[in-house]
Amino acid sequence: MQILAPDADGIQRAVALLRGGLLVAFPTETVYGLGGDAMSDLAVARIYAAKGRPRFNPLIAHVSDMAMARRLAVFDDKAEALAARFWPGPLTLVLPLRMDAGLSPYVTAELPTVAIRLPAHPVARALIAAFGGPLAAPSANPSGRVSPTRADHVVDGLQGRIAAVIDGGACEVGVESTILGLFARTELLRPGGVTVEAIEALTGPLAIGGDTARPNAPGQLASHYAPNAPVRLKAVDTRAGEVRIGFGDGPCDLNLSPKADLIEAAANLFHLLRAADALSQGRPIAIAPIPDTGLGRAINDRLRRAAAPR
Ligand code: TXA
Ligand code: MG
Repeated sequence: MQILAPDADGIQRAVALLRGGLLVAFPTETVYGLGGDAMSDLAVARIYAAKGRPRFNPLIAHVSDMAMARRLAVFDDKAEALAARFWPGPLTLVLPLRMDAGLSPYVTAELPTVAIRLPAHPVARALIAAFGGPLAAPSANPSGRVSPTRADHVVDGLQGRIAAVIDGGACEVGVESTILGLFARTELLRPGGVTVEAIEALTGPLAIGGDTARPNAPGQLASHYAPNAPVRLKAVDTRAGEVRIGFGDGPCDLNLSPKADLIEAAANLFHLLRAADALSQGRPIAIAPIPDTGLGRAINDRLRRAAAPR
């Protein structure tokens, strides 16, 4: 597996690999994505294989500008307004797929909708622009495991299964994009890097997508982001033998944010889950309560999945 620099030369090498139908992981502002040519059945099939991802779980098509986005999906006024406000950035819109989009049907798992995101990270945008078409890119981790926020996380999980990773350092946001379904109602399918509060300021109250029997977005299965160790949430007490992840003041082994800042906590979340896992050697991981506002909503969503029975 090649480690590429986040410069013009690295991007050129990555584009050559992608043109050959191979897979390249790249940094985005949320987490590292595992990129492949979204128009190629072979490349997209390789993404599912490398991750061990179930075929019914569709992928996000990443674009570098609005023109590319509008070739893939039908944008109504609401979609245009959301894109104008939050793109480039950590928001994914699920929209009606255009008949002439040309995407591999594996990207959408044959749904009539497509998830689209225009990332803010300069390396991601430069890569997609240089490739000249959309990249299908799930988070660059084996299915069910913690998402990667650094190139070495990608190497840990996917070594030997993909061609290369562009090393762009640590991801700034640290949790995946917020996913909105623009159906008859605007539905929150996954809380993420754009806060619900910021979206609702534009759209009014969001509906919560899905129901308890059916995962919101098909990939939002109960057990996900799973460390090897069992996880105890909202841990106000300390118990002997546990590795404790703190938030704000108080004794702990690792701290998401000593100053109790949710933005900092989101950026540290996946790295500290990995670090706690390595430290614990199978002992339980206890995590301090996190407020359920702003980015805390995305953090708590990921933590619930990390703690879910498996
Ligand atoms: O921040 C992110 O979104 C990252 C970076 C790499 O961009 N990507 C990411 O991809 O988180 P992934 O594959 O790990 O999560 C995509 C989610 C899945 O839960 C999937 O089910 C959902 O998006 N999804 C994709 N297409 C969909 C569709 N047409 N309808 C509903 N959900 C969809
Ligand atoms: Mg993922």
